[in-house]
Amino acid sequence: MSRTKPSTERQNKLTMTARRHSSTTVQHVQQPPKNIWPWVVCLCIISSLLAQCIAPLLQEVLKSSFICINPLVPSATKKIFDCVGQERTQKGISRRSRSDVQRVTYFDEPFPVEPWSRDDELAQTYDLLLPVTPKKQLSAIPDPFTEAEAVAALQAAKRSREGGNIRRAEAIIEHAYALAPHHPDVLTEYGIFIETIRNNVVEAEGYYQKALKGDPMHQEALIRRAKTLPLVEEIDNNMLKSIRHKRELFLKIPRWNSGLKRAMRESYFQHIYHTVALEGNTFTLGQTRSVLESRLAVGGKSIMEHNEILGMDAALRYLNKTLAAVGDIKMEDILSIHKRVLGFVDPDSAGVIRRTQVFVGSFTPVAPEYVNSELLEFVEWLNDEETLRIDPVELAALAHYKLVFIHPFVDGNGRTARLLMNFILMQAGFPPVIIPVGERGRYYATLKDANDGDLRPFIRFIAQMTDDCLQSFILSSSECPPEVKIEVAESQAQMIQTEP
Ligand SMILES: *[C@@H]1O[C@H](CO)[C@@H](O)[C@H](O)[C@H]1NC(C)=O
Repeated sequence: MSRTKPSTERQNKLTMTARRHSSTTVQHVQQPPKNIWPWVVCLCIISSLLAQCIAPLLQEVLKSSFICINPLVPSATKKIFDCVGQERTQKGISRRSRSDVQRVTYFDEPFPVEPWSRDDELAQTYDLLLPVTPKKQLSAIPDPFTEAEAVAALQAAKRSREGGNIRRAEAIIEHAYALAPHHPDVLTEYGIFIETIRNNVVEAEGYYQKALKGDPMHQEALIRRAKTLPLVEEIDNNMLKSIRHKRELFLKIPRWNSGLKRAMRESYFQHIYHTVALEGNTFTLGQTRSVLESRLAVGGKSIMEHNEILGMDAALRYLNKTLAAVGDIKMEDILSIHKRVLGFVDPDSAGVIRRTQVFVGSFTPVAPEYVNSELLEFVEWLNDEETLRIDPVELAALAHYKLVFIHPFVDGNGRTARLLMNFILMQAGFPPVIIPVGERGRYYATLKDANDGDLRPFIRFIAQMTDDCLQSFILSSSECPPEVKIEVAESQAQMIQTEP
């Protein structure tokens, strides 16, 4: 600026020599290119880059949010934009692309199979022989005499705990709890015992919550719960985080790894064995395998038990086939799974929603006229945006619980719910998760907790089963298992350290 101003003054004066004049003009013209040309070049590069990146994006957005969905757009245009199938499966695509996993886990074809040792079978049958501890059925209506005894026992337990006589305190509080399992004072004291003596914050918090359910203003329970709840939430979150980490390790194992292949095949039989055994089927793992391999009947076992196993085989194969194809889980998908589960046992009720009232122990599921609408609501919930943001393990557990809660079928609800749970887990890249028949007690106890209003124990249970399965698949793929174990433990420790 300071140079151009004098030059124009000189032009006006016209006293300058031509040479001088021309030199200032040259200066005047030459100066801008010196500064502008690099900018122009840069601008060209940037704008061409932007055009390259944004144009396809813009096309995608237009395509997905306007052209493909808009019913007014003629189909010829849609064809140009390559919308085929996009309208229908849009949510399905987003379901999978939203999760950070690219790979769906499938069941491995179990045939031909590796030889197996008899010890496996013995170990498995032992599970079945374990006595199922009968749970004392206590009526919900408190009996004043038992309650008075429980409260007296509670005071004694408190005194013993405070006096340092732990064993006595434990015996008495358990007695009190057995007498009055719904009494807020008893529940709180039991919680304190578990928290301070057994150092189990998670379980203790469950008792405080139960106490508060009976008496929302219970002082001690309120204070204790306020203190323990944040800890419990942190523990639960860390657990889910550690499971997600193990899933990454699992997904990194190449599918041709012979150890993994063997474990996956084996898990196919175990899956069928455990899921029918949970419902009382008496086949051993070896017999289950034998029926599936040879299709020959096992002597002394009922036709119905055989049919249950064949039904599970059909259901697992169906599930495996539809894993990749199904985006949103629809009502028909659940019915189709159930159709296979009961197909051989009871073809008339297979894939059919119940029309009668059923009773499951002390739990009475919804009346038959509401089943259909409850199920529709459930399916809507399953595919809801909010729901899909839930951690897959938690979501799988919730879906399992909700389905058995509705109890849409006359029979086979548990098996169908476990299949649905696995459907969700496997779509999220987890291996198929087995609930071992040996865990039957905890499985039903946590389901009952869920019915009583606290879903977390059941979610924790499913999370632990998922963790166990992941762990065993990771170990099976490794030539020297201890190393993997250390690696897993280390990365877990790191995660806990980096935790804010
Ligand atoms: C499951 O599906 C995968 C992929 O389609 C296939 O390779 C595998 O053999 C199937 N497993 C069973 C048990 O059908």
